[in-house]
Amino acid sequence: MANKVVMSGMRPTGKLHLGHYLGVLTNWKKLQEQYDCYFSIANWHALTTNYNNVSNLQDNVYEVLKDWLASGIDPNKSTIFLQSMLPEVAILHVYLSMMCPHNWVERDPTLKDMVKIIKSKEGQIEATYGLIGYPVLMCSDIMSLNADYVPVGKDQLPHIEIARDIVRRFNNLYGTDFTEPKGLLNDVKLLAGLDGNKMGKSFNNDIKLSDTPEETTKKIMTGITDRNRIRKDDKGDPNNCEVIYKYWEIFASGTPKLQEIQDACRGAEIGCMQCKRMLAELVNNELAPIRDKRAEYENNPDVLKDILKEGAKKAGERAKTVMEKVELAIKSF
Ligand code: TRP
Ligand code: SF4
Repeated sequence: MANKVVMSGMRPTGKLHLGHYLGVLTNWKKLQEQYDCYFSIANWHALTTNYNNVSNLQDNVYEVLKDWLASGIDPNKSTIFLQSMLPEVAILHVYLSMMCPHNWVERDPTLKDMVKIIKSKEGQIEATYGLIGYPVLMCSDIMSLNADYVPVGKDQLPHIEIARDIVRRFNNLYGTDFTEPKGLLNDVKLLAGLDGNKMGKSFNNDIKLSDTPEETTKKIMTGITDRNRIRKDDKGDPNNCEVIYKYWEIFASGTPKLQEIQDACRGAEIGCMQCKRMLAELVNNELAPIRDKRAEYENNPDVLKDILKEGAKKAGERAKTVMEKVELAIKSF
C-alpha cells in the first residue's frame, strides 16, 4: 500500500524562532522519515491578514524556507513548495467555496479570533472575503493532495474539523471518496518567551534560528529566573524559576546536567548569571549546526527558488490526479 500522506503549512510572516523549531519543525522532521510529506509555505494565507502590506512577503518566503531547510526539513525526503505555485489549490478553493455552508466558517473560533484581532487594529485593515474563506483555503491545501494527516498546533484544530466536514460533504454530494484528513496534534513542550509570555516576535521575547550566538546569549541573559532569589548567595528554587530552568528542562532533558543545575541552584553554588551563561552555551551548541546550514543557503536565492519549483512540480503531479477526479465529479470537465 502507498505511504500515508502528511500535509502541513506555515504562513510566511517572518523569521522563525526556537518555539517554531521545537514545536513544529522537529515534529515535521520525524514525520518525513515515515510518511510522504508535503509542506507548503502558505503565502495566500499570509495575504488574508496582510494584503495591505506585501513589501516583505517575498523575503519572508525565503526566510521561512531557509529556516525549514536549516532545521532539517529535507527536500529529498519531503516535498516543499510555495502555495501560489500550485494553482490547483486556488481552483479547488473555488469549488469548495460553492458547497461549504457559510455558517461552517462563521462559527470557526480560531477564525473569529483572527477577525477580532483585525478589527481591533482600528480601521487600518478590513476583514476580507478571503479571510472568511481561510478554513476553506486550508481545506483546499489538504484536499488537493488528498492528504491523510495534518500536523498542526491546537489553535488550528477547528480549521481541520471544518476541512473534514467539507471533504465529507463533497464526497456525499458528488459520490467521491477523498480522504477525510485527520489532525495530528503536535505533542510538544511549549517554549515560553524569555519574559515568561508566549514566545512570539511581536513580544520581542524570542530567539530566532537566524540570531547570532552573541545575540542569543544577550537575549538569554534577560530571561526571568526565580524572582525570590535576589542575591547570589540566596538559595534558589528551580520550580520557581519561571523561564531559565524551563529552558534547561528542554535543552538538557535526559542528561545529568539537569540534576546538577538543580542542586547548584538550591545550594546557591551558582548564581543566576552564571546559570544563564551556561544555558546560553548549551543553546548555542544545539543551534550551531542549524546556523551553519542556514548560512549555506544565505545569498543563494537561485537554489532556494529551484527547491520551491521542484516541490511545486512534484506536488502538482499529485494535485493533478485529484483535480481530474474533482472536475469529473462536479461536471466541470
Ligand atoms: N493556517 C496554518 C497556520 O497558521 C498554516 C496552514 C496553511 C496550514 N495551510 C495549511 C496548516 C494546511 C496545515 C494544512 O499555522
Ligand atoms: Fe533559575 Fe538557574 Fe537562577 Fe536557579 S540558578 S533560579 S535555575 S537561573
